[in-house]
Amino acid sequence: MNILLLGSGGREHAIALKISESPRCKKLFIAPGNAGTSNCGENLNLNLNDFKSIQEAVLKHAISLVIVGPEEPLVNGIVDFFQKENALKNILIVGPSAEGAKLEGSKDFAKKFMKEFKIPTASYNTFNRQEATEAKKFLTTLNPPYVIKADGLAGGKGVIICNTIAEANKSVDEMLQHDKFGKAAEKIVIEEFLNGIELSVFVLTDGHSYKILPEAKDYKRIGENDTGLNTGGMGAVSPVPFAGKEFMKKVEQKIIIPTIEGLIKRKIYYRGFVFIGLMNVDGEPYVIEYNVRMGDPETEVVFPRIQSDVVELLQATGTGKLSDVSLVVNPQTALTVMMVSGGYPESFEKGKEITFEKDSGDVYTFHAGTIFKEGKVYSDGGRVLAVTSFGNTIQAAREKSYAKLERIKFENGYFRKDIGLDLIKPN
Ligand code: AMP
Ligand code: GLY
Repeated sequence: MNILLLGSGGREHAIALKISESPRCKKLFIAPGNAGTSNCGENLNLNLNDFKSIQEAVLKHAISLVIVGPEEPLVNGIVDFFQKENALKNILIVGPSAEGAKLEGSKDFAKKFMKEFKIPTASYNTFNRQEATEAKKFLTTLNPPYVIKADGLAGGKGVIICNTIAEANKSVDEMLQHDKFGKAAEKIVIEEFLNGIELSVFVLTDGHSYKILPEAKDYKRIGENDTGLNTGGMGAVSPVPFAGKEFMKKVEQKIIIPTIEGLIKRKIYYRGFVFIGLMNVDGEPYVIEYNVRMGDPETEVVFPRIQSDVVELLQATGTGKLSDVSLVVNPQTALTVMMVSGGYPESFEKGKEITFEKDSGDVYTFHAGTIFKEGKVYSDGGRVLAVTSFGNTIQAAREKSYAKLERIKFENGYFRKDIGLDLIKPN
């Protein structure tokens, strides 16, 4: 079959590579894609929020399966659009409806959902533009640090953690009254701070049954030892040593099953990925956030570990037959390190030439912000490459990824040198 994958990050390159390896894939299109995805199929220059132009491309290229990478088209209702258009009705699309995408698009919606279905999460309250005084009063009932979140999508920047009540009050004013984050902060969620260690759990669901994909740990800060500004993610490791069998059983029983049952009870159409950001607090899982897509850079370690035919899995998700398909996962450790433009996540330059050798063995250089021009690869974003390696241990995978990174020529390119180190047990 012909398949269309929407998106342009390292996540999409990792998904594209797996799809292109499937005997079920006749031709893969990626929109808009990047320099790396053009090695897995044909890039199409489409705007992901222009659903009519996506429709035209789907019909022109006889696409029968569409995978939506990023959240924005999902929140904007691309799945509902496919269901309403007669010409698209029979085309499988992997992703939730707009109502389901509210799990990511509105923190207040997600919190209410968790409360209704008794899914463990930090206690909270929601406030609107008129309720700044009430918000500040609520803050006085909490212990520091204070967690303040814009309700809507804010490009991953909508969460502020404040150490003092004065900073927290200031953030409330900035969000509710001075329009920081614009429409995304028409409402804010203030919640209890959870003290623990984070991990990302991924579920593929057809709305009834589900498969738990490999979990991953993401490294969000720009600096080593988790210091400095937040980024989209600087590296990832899968499997996660502190997510043992017992803990994952709790995640399934207390979080995954009630989430899927909640979607069914609320009659929400959801055939796609659920990414659950979790905090392990003394061995108990709490949901920090839902996302309605795969994570980036987590996908760069999760997808390479999937040994089953991913097209078969995605097709079964779209047709509601996921329970008929089995999921086989490589037990080895996959570790990815992001190479970013110097200056990221603040201002940085694009258009730098990048040169590196072809991948060999079990090392994969996934492209994120890159572009091809006259046969050469140039940087075109903050996060530029993700180098994934496999090993029997985290240390072995680290050695391979870092050996590759050291050989990449990219002016001002930066990467963290400590990805996975915190997970290696001291001898
Ligand atoms: P989110 O966008 O909801 O994932 O939040 C961004 C980051 O803020 C998370 O990855 C956590 O590190 C942190 N965070 C969010 N909510 C909490 C919380 N209730 N307690 C502690 N840390 C949090
Ligand atoms: N790595 C976190 C995310 O994709 O949101």
